[in-house]
Amino acid sequence: MIRYVLAITIALGSYSLGLSFQASNGEGAKSSLGSTDYRGSTNAHAARYADDGQLIRPKGWRKWVYIGTPLTPHDMNGGKAAFPEFHNVYMDPESFATYENTGQFPNGTQLVKELVLVGSKQAVSGKGYFMGEFAGLEVAIKDTVRFKDEPGGWAYFSFGHQAKYTETAKAFPAASCNSCHAASADQDFVFTQYYPVLREAMPSAQQKMMDKGMGSNKKNGSTSKAAMGSMGGGEVEASDGYADKLFQWLAAKKYVGFAADSRVHPSTSGPAVHGDVKIFFNKKLADSIALGNDSHPVGAMSVKELHKDGNHYGWAVAIKAKEDDGNGNGWYWYENLSLTDNSQPVAASLGDSSCVGCHAPGRDFVRVDGLIK
Ligand code: HEC
Ligand code: HEC
Repeated sequence: MIRYVLAITIALGSYSLGLSFQASNGEGAKSSLGSTDYRGSTNAHAARYADDGQLIRPKGWRKWVYIGTPLTPHDMNGGKAAFPEFHNVYMDPESFATYENTGQFPNGTQLVKELVLVGSKQAVSGKGYFMGEFAGLEVAIKDTVRFKDEPGGWAYFSFGHQAKYTETAKAFPAASCNSCHAASADQDFVFTQYYPVLREAMPSAQQKMMDKGMGSNKKNGSTSKAAMGSMGGGEVEASDGYADKLFQWLAAKKYVGFAADSRVHPSTSGPAVHGDVKIFFNKKLADSIALGNDSHPVGAMSVKELHKDGNHYGWAVAIKAKEDDGNGNGWYWYENLSLTDNSQPVAASLGDSSCVGCHAPGRDFVRVDGLIK
């Protein structure tokens, strides 16, 4: 979403704002999964690099786990799609197995997108798009060690848009590929919204976590964190400038696609605190509330529009930035009483003292139990 500038990853289809807030994502992933999850050495299909650091073309990806086929035909894209035309996407089997268990993309994850041209638009089965020849190969790799300077640790490569692929490929600058993925992909820079196979794998991961009782997460920080992060998204880096980015995102109304109250209504906090409100949940929070979780995943976000006399005049926002310590310090709190000026937000910090006290009685600091139908 927002990555227009930064990186938050909250995801929501085209609204993914993702809370990917970015680069801290890499760190988060590392610490959450621990060193054993660094697949570089244990992954039989581990990526290989040439002496000059270029990625060596993977082998055998057509036997990896197939996760989906987006299609951007030339004839629907002004005669020339940026990525022509079928995109067959595969994931290395080791990382897929980890994804099924944790719902997260481990370090070492490789996603291969092989392009195939439309061959014909008519077959005995009917009119449509039928595959012709192979036409290109792109790879995305998550490696927060090797690509520690890339947002999320994701690097992007292309072996060319032609029938014969190159032997090696150099990583693209973040602006060429990573930024679009950061802005619009649903989970951790990956367009899971277009991969039914991953969507199916995810619920089973969540279920496993719950079966193991990790929802309550008291055992050990790293395990519970992996569980909590299982819906993807990164950690919020509550650094200077973060509030401005969030403000820009709010001002651009990027949250309008979120699940929301059906109408503006008086806040139960009383007119003095939040006035009239309309509450929005991103998918992570909506899903987590629907599951009845006591603790919400990192990346969960609620936005509350503040209204008075029928006019929208501000926002209150809570984002689960990292695992909470029970005191609301894992939540980033933000409130601003202007739609145009962010110079004096009421709150803009982790564990903001003007917010947490009153939110403490909520379930993981969320006061409402659900949205108004
Ligand atoms: C304008 C946005 C945009 C840009 C720029 C972009 N991508 Fe993507 N990428 C997508 C979308 C959307 C998908 C999923 C659907 C599809 O394949 O069309 C995707 C999917 C992928 C995938 C499959 C795995 C995944 O993350 O979903 C790879 C690999 C990939 N892109 C590589 C690249 C490379 C390499 C570049 C830079 C040369 C690049 N992308 C630039 C939008 C973008
Ligand atoms: C006096 C108590 C009180 C204070 C202080 C307070 N809130 Fe709330 N907040 C509520 C109540 C009650 C709700 C439930 C919905 C409603 O009626 O507005 C709520 C709801 C919210 C929601 C929607 C999600 C949810 O938890 O239900 C957000 C976002 C929010 N508040 C942000 C903030 C921020 C940011 C601050 C600090 C600047 C803050 N709140 C301070 C009482 C409070």
